[in-house]
Amino acid sequence: MKILVTGGAGFAASNFIRQTLKKYPDYKVINLDKLTYAGNLNNLKDIEGNANYKFIKGDIADKRMVDKVMRNENIDVIINYAAETHVDRSILDPDAFIRTDVIGTYNLLEAVKEFKIGKYIQISTDEVFGSIKRGKFKEDSSFKPNSPYSASKASGDLLCRSYIKTYDLPIIITHSCNFYGPYQYPEKLIPLFITNLIENKKVPLYGDGKNVREWIYVLDHCRAIDFLLHKGKLGEVYNIGSGVEKKNIEITKLILKELGLGDERIKKVKDRAGHDWRYAVDSTKLRKLGWSAEYDFDDAIRETIRWYQNNDWWWKPIKSGEYLEYYKKQYK
Ligand code: TYD
Repeated sequence: MKILVTGGAGFAASNFIRQTLKKYPDYKVINLDKLTYAGNLNNLKDIEGNANYKFIKGDIADKRMVDKVMRNENIDVIINYAAETHVDRSILDPDAFIRTDVIGTYNLLEAVKEFKIGKYIQISTDEVFGSIKRGKFKEDSSFKPNSPYSASKASGDLLCRSYIKTYDLPIIITHSCNFYGPYQYPEKLIPLFITNLIENKKVPLYGDGKNVREWIYVLDHCRAIDFLLHKGKLGEVYNIGSGVEKKNIEITKLILKELGLGDERIKKVKDRAGHDWRYAVDSTKLRKLGWSAEYDFDDAIRETIRWYQNNDWWWKPIKSGEYLEYYKKQYK
């Protein structure tokens, strides 16, 4: 099988590529990545010499580029991980979100149609459903995105839905809860807080810290995509969740405790605009098909903390340059 993974130099996709090449020695993976601030070839340093792996620098929002890849490589499956994903960046500057998450998805769907691709998997988020006080989002819950980021992902997902209904294309749409794990860009809650604490800085907790997210270890998410790649029903939508819900303050205290630090390292900062209160997905449909999350939250977060402690070669260079520019804007 030859898989085109878009955004393969990002956090979740690089973990997926690593897992796939290890599990399936006869599969080939093409990584098409624009190498934005969040795309980092260091995420794949250990597999760059693998004969079944090839990197192509390119933007999914560039139709000519997408078509060229499709013409040159005999792609069987596309997994669309490429996305702008950070809510705070989308508040500061939504432009790139519309380009990649909407136009980029559209170009890939057109390629699925034109080049008769056997399967397309859309990696998306529970944030498209908006915020929920009680209960969980089902696959058919209505979309109520609250940030330019979630609206851009919702738009891409709606295009996917329309290409299933109108053109009968072999598409699977996934909505996942929040990821954490190795190689996550240190702008997201967990890696930002871990690396700030290692650097003797404070951690910027928004509002009262009581917002709730459901958290899945990135390797469990990779397992879910692998499962859907082989067993998912075409034309269906699947939620991917772990069932583990945590308030931000609980996660913060857990990381502080693990690093032997106290609450004085928490800096309460102004709340995010339009901050969603809680996300949680009902992933019964996927579990009924035979997948379930395997990693224990406490173990996996400890493992994640250890990874950042042992791999400052990876994140220290990131926390400079463009990163500092972003933080100047974010906390000005
Ligand atoms: P984030 O990792 O940005 O993911 P998302 O907003 O897509 O769920 O944020 C997770 C939660 O952590 C969210 O409620 C916002 C909060 N948060 C902070 O309190 N401080 C921070 O510096 C960041 C980045 C997030």
